Amino acid sequence: MSDLPERISLREVGPRDGLQNEAPVPTEAKVELIDALSRTGVGRIEAVSFVHPKAIPQMADAAEVWQHVTRNDAVRYSALVPNLKGAQRALDAGFTELEIVVSASDTHNRKNINRSTDESLEEIAEVVDVVHSRGATLQVIVSTAWGCPYEGDVPVERVVSVASRAVRDGADGVSFGDTTGMATPPRVTRLVGTLRSTHPETPLNLHFHNTRGTGLANVLAALELGVADFDASVGGLGGCPYAPGATGNVATEELVHMVEDMGVATGVDLEAMIDVAATAERIVGRTLPSQVLRAGPRSRTVPVG
Ligand code: COA
Ligand code: ZN
Repeated sequence: MSDLPERISLREVGPRDGLQNEAPVPTEAKVELIDALSRTGVGRIEAVSFVHPKAIPQMADAAEVWQHVTRNDAVRYSALVPNLKGAQRALDAGFTELEIVVSASDTHNRKNINRSTDESLEEIAEVVDVVHSRGATLQVIVSTAWGCPYEGDVPVERVVSVASRAVRDGADGVSFGDTTGMATPPRVTRLVGTLRSTHPETPLNLHFHNTRGTGLANVLAALELGVADFDASVGGLGGCPYAPGATGNVATEELVHMVEDMGVATGVDLEAMIDVAATAERIVGRTLPSQVLRAGPRSRTVPVG
């Protein structure tokens, strides 16, 4: 096996990507989840999104959630935004790390953001300036990077050209989102390789949904290319309200369980993360898909009975 990174940085997206897809939960429950995640050793948490409350009522209390979170200095917290108005709300709430989302496929972007991809990219150029003028950073998330539920395959060139434009306009980094789990390892290798050859310096984060069971395989393919920044969601919470059939992200505890055993450090306390997955199940009131939550880590033995 090729050289894997010694350490990776995980961004926990359950409180945003996960809770946006569940029946609304009380503000206190969101704060409880974020606070519990803050104690697991995870390095980054995407805490909330500042989107239109009619589009996603689950995130209507984003500013209030953030106000009540007990911040851990060791954690980088961020907020997802869809447009300039969202960025202003996030900055006003005190966030210094923002993610803005744009889909590589027009149809998904129109459903999600009510704009064409080009219109969103034009707005992003403006958002970058506003975010930087207030001392914050902006990562551009390119969604439907491995395929669109409406359009099917999205050409690698198209995805890279969306990312290139964002980088040219000043984005601090790029994240590729596999919105409906259409990626497979060779497709990961191809897209990451193409981006790396055109933008070797651009920080790259990857976001896989496990819709078709390829989530961890995709992570492994990316690790082998040296990618060290990944999103994951506790318990495997998640989905996309504008992507029929979408399911959760790669479960954080499954990712940690696998890569730590391969000698890749995550900083995450696995048992603590499994406990938070149980908390997440209680909060959303349903069984979550994580298999490590069900089975426990491989190091946990069963008493001889
Ligand atoms: N937060 C709150 N209100 C917002 C907003 C935001 N981020 N963006 C726009 N608005 C308000 C505007 O102020 C305007 O209000 P007014 O009618 O009182 O003047 C109204 O919404 C319409 O503005 P417009 O720019 O025309 O928005 P839109 O109706 O085209 O909606 C989005 C565009 C992006 C706001 C909406 O589609 C959205 O929130 N999408 C997010 C979807 C999502 O979260 N998906 C999952 C995560 S990837
Ligand atoms: Zn997602």
